[in-house]
Amino acid sequence: MCGIVGYIGPKPAAPILISGLKKLEYRGYDSAGIAVIEDSHIKITKSVGKIANLEEKLSGVILNATTGIGHTRWATHGKPSDENAHPHLDCTGKFAVVHNGIIENYLDLKEELMAEGHTFRSETDTEVLAHLLEKYYAGDLLEAVIKLQKRLHGSYAAAFLALEEPGRIVAVRKDSPLIVGLGDGENFLASDIPAILNHTRKTYILQDGEIAELTANTVKVYDMGGNPVAKEIYEVTWNAEEAEKGGYAHFMQKEIFEQPKALRDTLAGRLDAENLEVKLPEIEENLEFYKSLNRIFISACGTAYHAGLVGKYLLEKLVRIPVEVDVASEFRYRDPLIGRNDLLVVISQSGETADTLAALREAKKRGARVLAVTNVVGSSVSREADDVIYTWAGPEIAVASTKAYTTQLLVMYLFALYLGRVKGTIDEKLYKEMVFGLKEIPQKVQEVLEAEDKVIEFAKKHLNKEDAFFIGRGLDFAVSLEGQLKLKEISYIHAEAYAAGELKHGTLALIVKDVPVIALATQEALFEKMLSNIKEVNAREATILGIAFAGKKEIAKVTDEQIYLPRVPELLAPILAVVPLQLLAYHMAVLRGNDVDKPRNLAKSVTVE
Ligand code: G6P
Repeated sequence: MCGIVGYIGPKPAAPILISGLKKLEYRGYDSAGIAVIEDSHIKITKSVGKIANLEEKLSGVILNATTGIGHTRWATHGKPSDENAHPHLDCTGKFAVVHNGIIENYLDLKEELMAEGHTFRSETDTEVLAHLLEKYYAGDLLEAVIKLQKRLHGSYAAAFLALEEPGRIVAVRKDSPLIVGLGDGENFLASDIPAILNHTRKTYILQDGEIAELTANTVKVYDMGGNPVAKEIYEVTWNAEEAEKGGYAHFMQKEIFEQPKALRDTLAGRLDAENLEVKLPEIEENLEFYKSLNRIFISACGTAYHAGLVGKYLLEKLVRIPVEVDVASEFRYRDPLIGRNDLLVVISQSGETADTLAALREAKKRGARVLAVTNVVGSSVSREADDVIYTWAGPEIAVASTKAYTTQLLVMYLFALYLGRVKGTIDEKLYKEMVFGLKEIPQKVQEVLEAEDKVIEFAKKHLNKEDAFFIGRGLDFAVSLEGQLKLKEISYIHAEAYAAGELKHGTLALIVKDVPVIALATQEALFEKMLSNIKEVNAREATILGIAFAGKKEIAKVTDEQIYLPRVPELLAPILAVVPLQLLAYHMAVLRGNDVDKPRNLAKSVTVE
């Protein structure tokens, strides 16, 4: 997804912009560029492809400019190309703009501007912003941006430069994240925190409709009408290393191994095992609603959707409330039968996913209450939801989600236990077991991580396969879905997850000699049935990796390799069982030489529909 950076201060801007853009690479992009005010003109350098291409173009070029903006683009309007890369200029070359999001009415605006004589150089929606600025500018960049913004429909975060005002950057946000980093005699702008972490921890998180005006020494924020807005400083508590790879080969591997910590952090203050208490002050304030709600809907995208599937199972089992789960892009358009006394739970790591946000808005419009489970404080989802339970996974940089997923699961457990307790629907013995189980879960995940070598062995054997199947029943099926998504995303191996009982209704035709099958069998009541299903694939000579709890030796008789999980209450199995699947996807991708953290065609945060 697109990224924005900006710098204004005493230092040369270009290297700061480039290093900021590199910190945003994880968001996915196809071109990059910067604009600086140099020698009485706006100098733009941009290039399709990786930031390294941009650096190459800049090598040997001396830029002394101390004000600039930069961008990484993920194509929406117009193909990835040098011309379509940001920043964009107006006709006179006096104004530059970078933009994330979509200007929905750009065609109308473009037509209007062309009729007035403006010449366009790119296919982007963004370029209209540069020409609008040219049209409205009368010596004051802030005033011009206020006017320009009134003309826009859509979602955007944008930053503007005017040649005549080299000591000023103006930026605006609506439905697309943007933050200001507050330095000492210098200030920064970014679409995401990692871009500024090397420089400052003090930030203003801009809200929808807010306009920021940066000079080297001041940052002022205004509403859409140009009235000053008082902002509170948000101090970033993440370590700088937390946004770096640390000692790991890839962010994804680092994030897989960070899961015990992420789970511990997410549990902190929420689980008092001694007093058998789950504490969720986030929803306690509205307990009456939660006690009396009729139905729960869950909506999310990608990995977060898979966390929702586990959530459905838990909530129905422990709270005895009907739960529907939809991918957000379906929910928003299916005229959902949701209303007052219903709850929509949206799950989103980034809190910025366009479809998830739209699902949230749809539910609110229909009178439902919305609970968000998200990892990003101040994200759009967190601001628009009625209640928020944060996952404290820390920044997740690899496109393929891992620690966000397990912490999302953890929140679903806490929520189901909490609600089950207050509604009196959960059996006391099970409740107790689960509370103690959850307390131990970070340590148990640590133990599962020790299976890495075994997973590498399996990965090496199947490195050149083009298909893989994941099978399971109940909760294991939900986890299988996440396992197959991980494998597809980064190893590019075609993978499918099947409810094991459904195999014989078609997919079994694809199970032939040596096809890798990953079979999950953690659920006691379904164990015998799973063994039968595994035998079905075994009879077709598939190569099977079985995943079951320690002691379930029967699995060894029907599978080629086994990974045994440490014992926990079986409802908690998903948090453990997904770990070898994450490792499998990771090592397959590494062995196949893929760009693990930035898989082709995918973006970390999908803020357009
Ligand atoms: C993108 C990412 C996925 C992620 C999904 C939802 O597709 O590549 O890894 O699961 O978006 O993202 P969210 O931030 O809403 O959890």
